[in-house]
Amino acid sequence: MTRLLDVENLTLQFDTDEGRITAVDNVSFSLNAGEVMGLVGESGSGKSVTAKSLMKLNAGNAIYSDDTKITLHLDDGPVDIMSLKGKDMQVVRGGAISMIFQEPMASFAPAISIGDQMVEQLQIHTDMNAKRAKEVSIEMLDRVGISDASTRFKQFAFELSGGMRQRAMIAMALSTKPKLLIADEPTTALDVTIQAQVIDLMKDLVDEFGMGIIFITHDLGVIAQTADNVAVMYLGRVVEHGTVRDVIRRPAHPYTQGLLAALPSLDDLDTPLKPIPGDIPSPLERPPGCVFNTRCSQVVGDVCSTVIPGFSGVSDSHQVACHLATQNKNGGAAS
Ligand SMILES: Nc1ncnc2c1ncn2[C@@H]1O[C@H](COP(=O)(O)OP(=O)(O)O)[C@@H](O)[C@H]1O
Ligand code: SF4
Ligand SMILES: [Mg+2]
Repeated sequence: MTRLLDVENLTLQFDTDEGRITAVDNVSFSLNAGEVMGLVGESGSGKSVTAKSLMKLNAGNAIYSDDTKITLHLDDGPVDIMSLKGKDMQVVRGGAISMIFQEPMASFAPAISIGDQMVEQLQIHTDMNAKRAKEVSIEMLDRVGISDASTRFKQFAFELSGGMRQRAMIAMALSTKPKLLIADEPTTALDVTIQAQVIDLMKDLVDEFGMGIIFITHDLGVIAQTADNVAVMYLGRVVEHGTVRDVIRRPAHPYTQGLLAALPSLDDLDTPLKPIPGDIPSPLERPPGCVFNTRCSQVVGDVCSTVIPGFSGVSDSHQVACHLATQNKNGGAAS
């Protein structure tokens, strides 16, 4: 497996009128080429700002810690993302890394046709001529399930329906064949058939070009269908990570267990869903110790509200940050 991305100690704060908030707290993960990593967690857990950090796309009030290190491994050698400035960053954005946003309208300029934008992006990031770029763009529109792609190619973003706009954005992001594709809740607004089609397309592209994908969603069910590995985020921290198989079959963190219990079961659609009680606290009121302690039903003791749990191994391919795990390992001794 070829290493594509290393994120080390990503810590991100924002200056706000109410004070400085921590949105991402010491997050580390790696991704290999040809792998899909799922990033899952409720709204507000820091998924989007983590993803935007990889392209330095966060707002101007973002402050990264000095030890934040993000390395993209390209054919020509490693790229240190945090040290890139202006024009060098532009080369990475939309070229080596493409991002599909939650809100497709933000990705298109309103007064330029979809096709012209796709062709322009291809010409910036590849050596295709205009004729070839047009062919590739229409082919990609067709592959994401847009019928009559050559007509749509000439239209403007506002002329397409929401779902179609989403698919056009996915086509544009994939057309340059990025090394790393970041998909931020890309299927949330799509109906189930199109959702399956888009997920299949992404899997095909991983096989075809060996790209790495970070797939962000609040839905563990979608992760089970798409990803090889998963990181579960809560209030800016990764609380559990591992292979999808391990994490979904043997969730070790009470938060992951809660997310799974909240999923509808196909075998028993009459059973009421069990959402995790309580709300995710405001980042201005991050609980000390384990960030999940205000909602956890398995609190071990004072340690949960005083000491930040480190990672411990459930297996070689599965890690959890919870005092419960350390306690079980120590034979139940209170820590
Ligand atoms: N520019 C900003 N200024 C202040 N806070 C921000 C900014 N951008 C994001 N946040 C905060 O960072 C936290 C994480 O947000 P986000 O990554 O969008 O969550 P998710 O994608 O998991 O729903 C939220 O509390 C959000 O309000
Ligand atoms: S560390 Fe404590 S509060 Fe946090 S998830 Fe584990 S048991 Fe719950
Ligand atoms: Mg988000």
